[in-house]
Amino acid sequence: MAALTIEVRPLSEAGGAEIAGVDLSRPVDAAAQEAILDAWHAHHMLLFRDQSLDDAAAVRFCRIFGEIQPERQTPSAADRHEPGIHYVANTRKDAILPDGDIWFHSDQIFYDLPAMATSLYCIDAPACGGETRFGNCHLAYESLDEETKRRLEGLKAESSYLYNSPNRLHKVTAERSGNELCATHPVVRTHPVTGRKGLYVNRLMTDFIVGMDRAESDALLERLFDRIEQPQFLWQHKWREGDQVIWDNRSVVHARNTYDHINDRRTLRRIAVKGDMPF
Ligand code: OGA
Ligand code: MN
Repeated sequence: MAALTIEVRPLSEAGGAEIAGVDLSRPVDAAAQEAILDAWHAHHMLLFRDQSLDDAAAVRFCRIFGEIQPERQTPSAADRHEPGIHYVANTRKDAILPDGDIWFHSDQIFYDLPAMATSLYCIDAPACGGETRFGNCHLAYESLDEETKRRLEGLKAESSYLYNSPNRLHKVTAERSGNELCATHPVVRTHPVTGRKGLYVNRLMTDFIVGMDRAESDALLERLFDRIEQPQFLWQHKWREGDQVIWDNRSVVHARNTYDHINDRRTLRRIAVKGDMPF
């Protein structure tokens, strides 16, 4: 039985686990799927090393977690792929996020229904840099004092897609044009499966707390971003070819370190899993 050989090896104190003993190029049986989901809910980000996955196998893997999320902004070049398959790469013209560092964020928080999970499969790993970093939003929330937790109760924040710049993804503080994608979600999100609460704001995308004085909102958000990004809540993944990673956008934020995009290669196949309404 495949399930009996599955081994869950935590990657850090903060979160993440490597799952050993599973070959994702073949269908995974029901018991193994359950073990994978249990590990995912406990560790928020999973790593499967030394895989050899084509598009179909990567889609089948993601379907363990939910339905595939087709890209909503339909970057024209992406239309050439299977629905839902994208590349994060500096090696292909049709790729997204080719280079530079990316601040901490939770994918698609600027939509009403943000992707539940994001998966990346490594085709080319750069020798230096390009690590993906993760932050555990549950631990960050739980570390707050009771008064702050009470202050956050019922608060909502607006996040937007307003951060594009060449060679990096940092927040742009320019005035909004009114055409940006944006959505309002609770500052403290409850995980629908585990019931655990977590901070659901991030430095890259969250703009302000609804109904709060701007200076007060800026100060509170800055405190929360800093809390999430404390080293004890973080871990990072150094990519190797054949790594399949998936993370839970309801539980973690992620960021990227820069790399030598002129001389090195970084190619990741990206598939997102549909999510539901944050509460
Ligand atoms: C993403 C993303 C980080 C990376 O695909 O959503 O943020 O390491 N990628 O490329
Ligand atoms: Mn992302």
